[in-house]
Amino acid sequence: AFQPRVFSGVQPTGNLHLGNYLGAVSRWVPLQDQMPTIFCVVDAHAITAGFPGRAELTNATREVTAAYMAAGIDPKRSIIFNQSQVREHMELAWVFNCVARMGWLNRMTQFKEKAGKNKENASVGLFAYPNLMAADILAYRATHVPVGDDQKQHLELTRDIAAKFNNDFADRIKELGLGVPNPTPSPELPEMLYFPMTEPMIAGPATRIMSLRDGTKKMSKSDASDLSRINLKDDADTISKKIKKAKTDPDALPSEVDGLEGRPEADNLVGIYAALAGSSKAEVLNAYGGQQFSAFKPALSDLAVEKLAPMTQEMRRLMGYPAEIDAVLKDGAEKAAAIAEPVLKDVRQIIGF
Ligand code: ADP
Ligand code: NA
Repeated sequence: AFQPRVFSGVQPTGNLHLGNYLGAVSRWVPLQDQMPTIFCVVDAHAITAGFPGRAELTNATREVTAAYMAAGIDPKRSIIFNQSQVREHMELAWVFNCVARMGWLNRMTQFKEKAGKNKENASVGLFAYPNLMAADILAYRATHVPVGDDQKQHLELTRDIAAKFNNDFADRIKELGLGVPNPTPSPELPEMLYFPMTEPMIAGPATRIMSLRDGTKKMSKSDASDLSRINLKDDADTISKKIKKAKTDPDALPSEVDGLEGRPEADNLVGIYAALAGSSKAEVLNAYGGQQFSAFKPALSDLAVEKLAPMTQEMRRLMGYPAEIDAVLKDGAEKAAAIAEPVLKDVRQIIGF
């Protein structure tokens, strides 16, 4: 059977925000007790929109690493490393460039958003980004990938790539004795697989945190307005100010029965509260239904500060020890390479190199 294994990552670009924390990093922490976990700082993805340069990349990579550790990712229980230090990612991405079809990539909505109007001038890397993401995951034959909702389509592509590879090379995989029995047999797949059909883990009240300024846009590092997001580095006053200024509608919070349908800004703030409190939207509505935002927003600020301040403080402390962060990444890269190297050795044999 496939060894259960978690893989996930964050790009070292811009400021880590509440969406990254609630949609991804915070959900990784309890998984450390359930199966082997690998958390990557995906710096090779960070060059798809331009080369930030060594100083900025190094600093941003350390910051994401510090955020992982401050959030509770333990380098003794998880592999923490940055992507560029394990070259198997790049090598497998090339193989997947030759497995994936143009039509599949053409359907990716994130490319359309990120490339904007000037698609002709987007890097080929930005277009092929989902193939590199598939390689990140499958270089470890990872079975579980906890991410936010925006990554759903990319994870479907990862499964499509795994399925096509497993099918196209079924005979070769069998002949070399490298297959693992398919745990969920289906007519679309051979009996023996080389790559697992990775399961996305997208669940909970915070899989898609929206901008505080616009309930139709996701909270993002690349939003021009800093008021649109809560950064993990924001201090208490900044957090309160941003929540106070967050866009809402004029009505009171609904009861659980009335629900949040058609009220995206209220839905978003209630979801943030629920995720921070470790509860559900229904529980939050039970407690705050009927109250005005003028009462709910201060409660949300207090909760956000209570949960984030210790983490921010720990991130700052860790950033005072860059050599220790670098040592964590170096050790992690060695452990990651020890898993990915044999996989690439197999892949070379399977494809005929
Ligand atoms: P960003 O989208 O901010 O540039 P990344 O692409 O590095 O950040 O995403 C890192 C992780 O954070 C992914 O798992 C992604 O799904 C998650 N994530 C990003 N934005 C949000 C959001 N607004 N709500 C929930 N999860 C998010
Ligand atoms: Na993203």
